[in-house]
Amino acid sequence: MLKLGANFSILVIFEALKKNKMSKLNNYIHQNKDRFLHELIDLLKIPSVSADSKFKEDVRKAADFIKHQLEVTGADNCKIYETKGHPIVYGEKIVNEKYPTILVYGHYDVQPADPYELWDSEPFEPVIKNTSIHPQGAIFARGACDDKGQMFMHLKAFETMINTDELLCNVKFMIEGEEEVGSENLETFIRANTDLLKADVVLVSDTGIIANDTPSICVGLRGLSYVEVEVTGPNRDLHSGLYGGAVANPINILSSMIASLHDNESKINIPGFYDDVQIVSQEERNEMSKAPFNLEDYQNDLRINTVHGEKGFLTNERNSIRPSLDVNGIWGGYIGEGAKTVLPSKAYAKISMRLVPHQSSKKITTLFENHFNSIAPDCVKVKVTPHHGGEGVVVPTDFPGYLAASKAMEESFGKKPIPVRSGGSIPIVPLFQEVLGLKTILFGFGLDSDVIHSPNEHYGLFNFYKGIETIPLFYKYFNELKSR
Ligand code: BES
Ligand code: MN
Ligand code: MN
Repeated sequence: MLKLGANFSILVIFEALKKNKMSKLNNYIHQNKDRFLHELIDLLKIPSVSADSKFKEDVRKAADFIKHQLEVTGADNCKIYETKGHPIVYGEKIVNEKYPTILVYGHYDVQPADPYELWDSEPFEPVIKNTSIHPQGAIFARGACDDKGQMFMHLKAFETMINTDELLCNVKFMIEGEEEVGSENLETFIRANTDLLKADVVLVSDTGIIANDTPSICVGLRGLSYVEVEVTGPNRDLHSGLYGGAVANPINILSSMIASLHDNESKINIPGFYDDVQIVSQEERNEMSKAPFNLEDYQNDLRINTVHGEKGFLTNERNSIRPSLDVNGIWGGYIGEGAKTVLPSKAYAKISMRLVPHQSSKKITTLFENHFNSIAPDCVKVKVTPHHGGEGVVVPTDFPGYLAASKAMEESFGKKPIPVRSGGSIPIVPLFQEVLGLKTILFGFGLDSDVIHSPNEHYGLFNFYKGIETIPLFYKYFNELKSR
């Protein structure tokens, strides 16, 4: 009896100590809350659009901002690495040779903000507003969620751990400025710096959770093959009355070529396209279908009468474990005000193909190119130009990195996170495995409704602070599970 009682009281004291220790971190976050947010606002004011050379100086400013942040919070060897494109920011803190090392990756570049007229506030003048999903407020700006807000959580979590003496893993930060344009120069950088980047796991917050009361961990990303096509008909624009009906119209031809890329069951009609697609077992599909999803809400949110996609698969499967093909833009001819009768010389489209594990983005690009050329009628010429691409990823759920992430979220959200495969792409992630031999934890805190890449992108303040609170728990549990 006595023994049991003693054990019990030790347990109580231990729990209290543990709480006290955690509240040291949480106290620090609480005391510095407003400053954290204002620093993020300053970062969001910099229009670091990587795709548009007009913003080259601003992209640079954002890199300087990150480097400065790393320096003042106490990281060592902070450096800006130049590339052929935008710079990479690096910094590290090696606290103990015996501790495991986390490589934190994120991106400070953002998507172009246009169409500007659809924003309710200026994309680079952040404002905080409440929404029905974010009753505690959300910050509206391009990059708020993807990825400045999420990447910045890591810098503030780092600051918190350092200043409370709770940094329980070594950490290396690698923050790039070209994720939104395919990370090609980062690939060169990691291939050339494998020693510098030695670590035990990669930690990335650039994905999402199901809902603020339903934590989840992203365990899959789709690959990507992106092409631009040009269809040329006559050598010049023609009068559509004088020539219409007698000469091929490249827009008409391109439209029917695009239409033929799907069959009537919404399968992609390119020979060989599905050859390498990883077949997901029914068991895993059953597991996936346990993640909360309401089709009606989904349709209502998008104001669509019905969803659309490959026969035989659920919505959440169509956008994660199955590949897809979408026209991202299509143009040609006259699009100005009023009517101009013209039979254009050229038509263009940008087409993305989202790929699943085992499909090679290079191979798919070649298959597309050959197929598109083969279906072109003699009356037009076709040119296919490949853009950036990347491979898909699946993250296992049974290694220390995942277990630490799961425990961390379970503690901070009070609920065990659900593993979920996402449909988006982060092209550098598969290369962490291939080049550095490292698995990646996709520890994102955004919501689908945060509308990344769209007008009115935002990030919940709840999510921002929850991230800062959860990241130190990951460090703690990863140390426990991994320390030698
Ligand atoms: N952070 C996103 C990817 C993402 C978002 C993955 C949400 C999963 C959930 C990333 O910045 C992105 O937009 N990637 C691009 C690819 C890139 C090559 C332009 C994408 O997926 O379109
Ligand atoms: Mn991103
Ligand atoms: Mn993005």
